[in-house]
Amino acid sequence: AHKIVVVGGGSTYTPELIDGFARLRDVLPVAELVLVDPSAHRLDLVGGLAKRIFARQGHPGAITTTGDLDAALDGADAVLLQLRVGGQAARMQDETWPLECGCVGQETTGAGGLAKALRTVPVVLDIAERVRSIAPDAWIIDFTNPVGIVTRALLKAGHKAVGLCNVAIGFQRKFAALLGTEPSEVHLGHVGLNHLTWETSVRLGGPRGEDVLPALLAEHADAVAADLHLPRAVLDRLGVVPSYYLRYYYAHDEVVRELRTRPSRAAEVAAMEEQLLAMYGDPALDEKPALLARRGGAYYSEAAVDLAAALLGGGGTSAGGRGAGSPHQVVNAFNNGTLPFLPDDAVIEVQAAVGPTGAAPLPVPALDPLYAGLVAQVTAYEDLALDAALRGGRERVFRALLAHPLIGQYAYADALTDQLIAHNREHLAWA
Ligand code: G6P
Ligand code: MN
Repeated sequence: AHKIVVVGGGSTYTPELIDGFARLRDVLPVAELVLVDPSAHRLDLVGGLAKRIFARQGHPGAITTTGDLDAALDGADAVLLQLRVGGQAARMQDETWPLECGCVGQETTGAGGLAKALRTVPVVLDIAERVRSIAPDAWIIDFTNPVGIVTRALLKAGHKAVGLCNVAIGFQRKFAALLGTEPSEVHLGHVGLNHLTWETSVRLGGPRGEDVLPALLAEHADAVAADLHLPRAVLDRLGVVPSYYLRYYYAHDEVVRELRTRPSRAAEVAAMEEQLLAMYGDPALDEKPALLARRGGAYYSEAAVDLAAALLGGGGTSAGGRGAGSPHQVVNAFNNGTLPFLPDDAVIEVQAAVGPTGAAPLPVPALDPLYAGLVAQVTAYEDLALDAALRGGRERVFRALLAHPLIGQYAYADALTDQLIAHNREHLAWA
């Protein structure tokens, strides 16, 4: 059984993770789970509930909490990163100031996403260096956004890292429900970059199964479109299913108008977090509350358990001795020629063969130029964003914003650069 460390373990999301570890203990046997967080108060509330969830479900593993990262890492097999530098307050800024320029205000897309990358990459790299020196064999599973850029930073620095997001597992479950089958039967043709993906096929039974996407759309396009807040006609014309993050591109101006008339998602989440923490403090609560399902990260625990199980290999009982965890999973990994129009060291989000040696993307069919162009441009943006995050400087921020397909004009890029720096000075060593 394994030792797992969760950095950002004081997150209100953690009970989702704990619930997954408890339910899926046959897939991933956990002996020790350490929640690491700078906030003792949150550790107290979240850790207390985490222990009660394990106890209620009869999980034999020990849950401990600490603010001491180095102590936590000793003997770790896997380290999950789910931190948020600056908390919801910083996110609220990311979602607000871009709107003044008529650009989308979002935590991972556009200028707000760049701000998050600049705050986050140095912190994550510092943590990864601690992992390398204390638990050099441990796998780093990165949930920390922006996952594409953060994973690229980790991999380029030579860390044993895989990036993960719940968008694919969300579609897998959604499509399974529409098709009346089990999620494990649904194999997605999922391609793109983190938060910039399309489902191009939906195969039953495995990667060589029958593609039922055309039939699924013929019957359920209205439901799928409603979920994405896109007109059905757009889905019909694409013939593939974009992730809901594509709405920030395909309906950018419409989204900006909406965002201007309502409180930010960060404000909503902050209010929910207050309620959640109050609930977590109730000693009678011993399961994840339903309110948590209103957060975007639903089911991320299942993706995390599946990935950790495959990376750590063996030990599980559910996979007939092959080692636990699904052999094919949607993850963020180096491109290595998978999308031939991107550099090898771009990080893409696709199906990969996952096992104890890591994640290797499976081949994907040639991508329609309708999507390839956007993927190439956002990859270039991510490259420049990483450069800005690693080396700092106003001009590097400007270059990343100018390269972003949702910005692109020098006047906007200049104004957004000033705003980004003004709102993030305390988090940027160079500013
Ligand atoms: C989805 C994304 C995550 C993101 C989350 C935000 O799950 O895949 O990367 O962190 O939504 O959810 P929230 O409830 O914080 O708005
Ligand atoms: Mn995500």
